[in-house]
Parts: sequence; C-alpha cells; structure tokens
Amino acid sequence: MPDTVKPEWHPKHFPMVKSLKIIIVAGARPNFMKVAPLLHRITRHNREAANGTPQIIPFLVHTGQHYDEKMSSVFFAELGIPAPDVNLEVGSGSHAVQTANIMTRFEPVCEREKPDWILVVGDVNSTMACALVASKMRIRVAHVEAGLRSFDRNMPEEINRLVTDSIADLLLTPSEDGNENLRREGVPISRIKLVGNIMIDSLLANLDKVAQSTILTRLKAEKRRFIYVTLHRPSNVDNKESLVSIMRAFADISRKMPVIFPMHPRTRARLAEFGIEPGNSNITILDPVGYHDSLALTQSARCVVTDSGGLQEESTFFKTPCLTLRPNTERPITVTEGSNRLIKTGELFERLDEVLNGSETLGRIPEFWDGLTSERVLHALINYREADAASANSATPIRKTAAAPTALTTASVAHV
Ligand code: UD1
Repeated sequence: MPDTVKPEWHPKHFPMVKSLKIIIVAGARPNFMKVAPLLHRITRHNREAANGTPQIIPFLVHTGQHYDEKMSSVFFAELGIPAPDVNLEVGSGSHAVQTANIMTRFEPVCEREKPDWILVVGDVNSTMACALVASKMRIRVAHVEAGLRSFDRNMPEEINRLVTDSIADLLLTPSEDGNENLRREGVPISRIKLVGNIMIDSLLANLDKVAQSTILTRLKAEKRRFIYVTLHRPSNVDNKESLVSIMRAFADISRKMPVIFPMHPRTRARLAEFGIEPGNSNITILDPVGYHDSLALTQSARCVVTDSGGLQEESTFFKTPCLTLRPNTERPITVTEGSNRLIKTGELFERLDEVLNGSETLGRIPEFWDGLTSERVLHALINYREADAASANSATPIRKTAAAPTALTTASVAHV
C-alpha cells in the first residue's frame, strides 16, 4: 500500500479543533471492507497527530443487518476491525421492518453519544436508515461512496443512495461520475469531495494476506482454470425462471471449465424453494467465503460472474474479466476503464464462452484507486467548515434527474 502522505493531507494543515467524535456505521457484508481502512487510519492519525491537531474519537455501530458468522464476524477478524461499541442486532426483515428497526435502535445511541458526525458507507438499508436518523437530529452526516447511480429504482440500493445523498452534509465520492451525478441533482459543490475508492484501500492493505490464502489448494483449483461466481440480487435469484436459466448456463459451461460458487444465504434459500438442483460435480457450491479467499479467487479466476458492486471493482483492480448479470451498473468506471461487462441472463453461456476463448480485453486501474482514500476522508471531515454548511443549506433544492447520461446499460454499452 502506498504510504506517502501528499503535502495537502499532512496533519500539520489540520485546523485547531480539540477532538471530533464520529459514529461510524456498518451493517452488511459490503460495509465492513469500507469501514476497516477508516478505523485504521483514525488510529494512525491519533498516534501521529501533532499538537493542535484534532484527535478523532471513533464509535463503531454494527446494525446487525448481517449477522451470520460468514457474513459478518469473519470480516471483523480478517480486516482487524475492533469489536463494535454497539450492536443493534436488527437481523433480517422486510425493507420497512429492517429500516424501522435500525432507526428506532440507532436514535438512542445518537442521543447518548452526541457525536460531531455520523459516517455511513455504501448503499445498504443501514446506510440510509442511520443517515435519516442523524439528519433529523441535526447531526452532520458524511456519506462515503456518494454519488453512485444505477438510475434503476427497481434496485432497493438506488433508493438508499438517493435518500442518503439528498440529506448528507458531506458527500465523499469515489470517482468523477459521482460528482457529475450529484451536480446534476443540484447538490452544491461545497458539499461534494472526490476522495477515491475506499474499497481499494482495504484491498491494497490486504494483498499479502490474499497471497497467503489457501482457497485454491483447498478447492483443487488451478490459476486461470476456473470461473468464480457470486450472485445474490433479488432480480437474479428471486425469480425462478431467471435462476433456472443462470444455473443451466453454469452447468453447460462447467463442461469446459470448473465453476466455483460461494453462495449467499438468499440464493441458497431460493434454490431450495424452487427445487433447483445445483448442477454437476464441476460446479462447487460452498458457503460464503471470507474477504481474503474472495480476493484470491477474483485475482486467479479466468472470469468472474457476479451481480455484486464490490466484485465489479475488485475484478477491475486485478484486471480479471468480469461479467455482471445486471442491466445497469452504478459503477460505470468498471466498464469504461476496467474489465467489467454488463450482460443479460440469456447470453450468459455465450459471453462466458467468448471469455474462455480469450476475446476479452482487460482495462486499466482507475484514478484514485490508490490506497489513500481513507486519508482524504479524514481530511475532508476535519476541514469541514460551517461556512460551507451554510452555503449548502441555502442551496438549490434537489431536482428530479431528467436524463441519465452516465448510466451504463447492457443496451448502450459495448465491451471495452
Ligand atoms: C444486502 C444489501 C445489498 C448488498 C448485500 C450483500 C440492502 C437493501 N441490500 O442484501 O445491497 O449487496 O446485502 O450481501 O441493504 N441472511 C442470512 N444471514 C445473514 C444475513 C442475511 O441468512 O447474515 C439471509 C436472510 O434470510 C435475509 C436474506 O439473507 O432475509 C437477505 O438479507 P438482507 O440483508 O435483507 O439483504 P441482502 O440480500 O443480503
């Protein structure tokens, strides 16, 4: 991981503030690798902060949206995340029930802890629920991974992104397309800061451990001789016809190359419910794998098939061809610059066959995927000015998005 501190981020430039208390929220699997580098960076900042620079007091809240050992605890252990200060233990439920439970249990924590900020990451229900609570209590909200848009409100995550970004005080974006989306929605520039991709901070910090992963040996898999699959979106797995078609494509392609499929609990439940047989001995279905094993599989696969946002980015980083089973992506940079391609369910076998025949290109690593994002996040929090907030409060109200020029869809995007 690059360890250089750009001069403008050096602690000596921090203003004279005594301390900042920040509630950091994590709830579901894709949140954990986003909060880990922030917590590590805070520890380092507090150790190195010169006289007169603010100490940062983190307070970690786990909402309990994900609770299985393999969906939660394993990430805390692997990423060195300290035990949460509070676990709200909300568990599963409908969107309304889960969101409401998070809100009612998070409010007293805010009342008691009186933070200067709450910081939320990503786009899960926990992100939106906690942002909403804090915003109504007039606690400043920072959103890491702001500005991403799929322009598809059938995805619950898109609603979470829109709501969170419309109420957050500080919108910390991973890439320029995020800034553009926010500007188009009328968010004042003073509230938007391009900080880069926080996922890559975690990835770079864990490369040594990824190299030590034994998952390939355990599964008797050979480098570049397997397809790595993760699927859990309701649009792919909650519909019987779609899931049957996907599993048939894997059964067909597995005659040419083995398929490794760690299965999300939602997907496993749907296979059982629909009475779908997983396939043949060339398809290995296993429980969800941990962070290091997942990165090792992504790095060594001949191809990744996914509907996860994180896997699209990690494949781009490793330049592993990635086929995303979705009609759109909120991470267009993985298609325009990276190794990702959006595909339809019906073309899965054909596109996989193309990749196996070596017709794909691999792309490049986008700007600000450099391991310094957590540092830029801290800098933005510490240097946040009330004056900026005032200009934000008097800003143009959020407008409805008329067009979606940065949206990428299977119809509009050719593979790069
Ligand atoms: C959630 C996020 C999604 C993210 C995904 C990563 C929302 C709206 N969705 O979707 O953006 O990509 O996490 O996994 O926030 N379950 C377990 N054990 C667990 C957690 C869940 O068995 O630890 C089962 C439950 O039956 C639950 C189902 O999985 O009903 C779905 O979990 P839920 O958190 O509602 O949504 P995800 O599909 O995981």
